[in-house]
Amino acid sequence: MKTLLAVAASPRRNGNSETLLKEFARSAEDSGWTVDMLQVNDLKFRACQACDACAKDGKCILNDDMQDVYPRIINADALVIASPVTFGSMNAQLKMFIDRFQCWWNAKYNLEKPFVLEEENRQGFFICVGALKRKRYCENAEEIIKVYFHNINHKLAGSLFFRGYDEKGAILKDPDALAETYQAGKDFIAKIEVQ
Ligand SMILES: Cc1cc2nc3c(=O)[nH]c(=O)nc-3n(C[C@H](O)[C@H](O)[C@H](O)COP(=O)(O)O)c2cc1C
Repeated sequence: MKTLLAVAASPRRNGNSETLLKEFARSAEDSGWTVDMLQVNDLKFRACQACDACAKDGKCILNDDMQDVYPRIINADALVIASPVTFGSMNAQLKMFIDRFQCWWNAKYNLEKPFVLEEENRQGFFICVGALKRKRYCENAEEIIKVYFHNINHKLAGSLFFRGYDEKGAILKDPDALAETYQAGKDFIAKIEVQ
């Protein structure tokens, strides 16, 4: 059975981005996949300290919850990340999470032993939700996701931006947004299954 790793970045449980993430993940479950939900805000971890110890073997020496995250990415078949916009980009929790993949950068570029091989053609998807209508904020977040996915050898199959949703539950009042996300999940999984 294939596994979709679903990364929720918001500290607001069952908020707008997590609701959409679950909708995306539900379509994977409906296609017979297992979903591994990862709540970034529940992880206890430090920011990358730029110690460069990972240049030696591609492993991070910080002994915290991120150590359980790396194998979850390796063992998954695809990845979807959902983030709220905060101050014009992805939230800090997610950025701090991404920076802890500096060890994967070293593994790929310095050691030429990436943890996920490019030939695997792993796919990823990004969902972004903001209160304001300004598209730039989600684009800023997506730019970071592109750098991240490139680093961990995932292809960005697609992104969905939802703007104009602020209070918790706002997205539930928009069945079209939920349906669009469910369909995007279906298409994402279908594309992987014909690979
Ligand atoms: C600290 C903080 C900063 C925010 N900054 C922005 C922002 O710069 N632009 C924006 O459109 N929305 C901003 N928002 C609003 C959230 O993006 C919005 O409420 C979103 O629906 C939250 O998603 P969630 O329910 O998944 O947490 C901010 C929210 C917080 C808590």
